[in-house]
Amino acid sequence: MIRLHQIHKSYKVGSTLVPALKGIDLAIERGEIFGVIGHSGAGKSTLIRCINLLERPTSGEVFIDGVEITKLDSRKLQEQRRKIGMIFQHFNLLSSATVADNIAFPLTLAKMPSAEIKRRVKELVALVGLEGHEHKYPAQLSGGQKQRVGIARALANDPHVLLCDEATSALDPQTTNSILTLLLDINRKLGLTIVLITHEMHVIRSICDRLAVIQDGEIVESGKVAHVFLKPKHPTTREFIEQVENSAELLAAVSKEKAAGRRTIVRMTFIGEMTYEPVLYRAMRDTDTSFAILQGTISRLKDIPYGQMVVELEGEEPQIAKAVSYLRESGVEVEFL
Ligand SMILES: Nc1ncnc2c1ncn2[C@@H]1O[C@H](COP(=O)(O)OP(=O)(O)OP(=O)(O)O)[C@@H](O)[C@H]1O
Ligand SMILES: [Mg+2]
Repeated sequence: MIRLHQIHKSYKVGSTLVPALKGIDLAIERGEIFGVIGHSGAGKSTLIRCINLLERPTSGEVFIDGVEITKLDSRKLQEQRRKIGMIFQHFNLLSSATVADNIAFPLTLAKMPSAEIKRRVKELVALVGLEGHEHKYPAQLSGGQKQRVGIARALANDPHVLLCDEATSALDPQTTNSILTLLLDINRKLGLTIVLITHEMHVIRSICDRLAVIQDGEIVESGKVAHVFLKPKHPTTREFIEQVENSAELLAAVSKEKAAGRRTIVRMTFIGEMTYEPVLYRAMRDTDTSFAILQGTISRLKDIPYGQMVVELEGEEPQIAKAVSYLRESGVEVEFL
């Protein structure tokens, strides 16, 4: 669906070239929600803007639906761009136009007949849940409502792809969740491919199927969200996962337990339906060890259950080793703390 091949981008600042992207390779499938996470300055906005060529890569190719858009002339590129909608952190609405006119804007540009525009705007307003607000101006809307207008406008031309540049970063947590739910809903209803960039792991965890971690213009890790959460490899990825896991709290609890004389303490990470299975109980029963749960949490990655537990294992060393291999064979990540 979207393929980036060896994308390099450098900005000219004075007489020097500042590299922002250093050889990005990325393939995004039709219908998936793909997240890109990275710290400020990592190159996220540059990357997402290279997908619709709002930013021209210094070198490399961008393919959309098999078409190499980096090779198109400006008229053909304009046509291809209609397949790609985009929303922004600060909404970028026309302040002097009503909600309905903001949404109609790309349709007017595309010279759609006005009766058809009216019908389409009504449809879009309903899709994003803005009925009754059509005649208001952006200044009369909340942040979440403004982003709904942004989403409706981005969807006006029936794009195949929606690019989201920090679309929830200016919103409070509750409004963020409602916008994420809307994006997930649109993805499912319309089969729309969504690429979103963020610096918040919470956003990735809530709705993404796959993710890439970007640092200093390079992708340092990528994969299915569940897989990356279970086995993060890069330190930056671990740092982002800690945003949503409260590891500091967990580790404080562990050192307290250690001080209290407990010895074999492990952190177990479960994923999928297995979270609800008594794997732990079976491992202990079959190896003649026992355990004490010190802390546990269960959350979700999109629609997959995901749990973490910190336990102390009690028993003879060889038996504990057996229990740990049993757990690992059952797909539980076990880490000694
Ligand atoms: N127009 C520009 N001219 C010069 N340098 C730029 C320009 N845009 C971005 N950069 C530089 O390129 C690098 C990547 O910037 P980019 O905006 O893509 O990062 P980002 O990950 O989106 O950051 P943030 O989270 O702060 O939005 C940074 O070092 C930035 O200073
Ligand atoms: Mg940015």
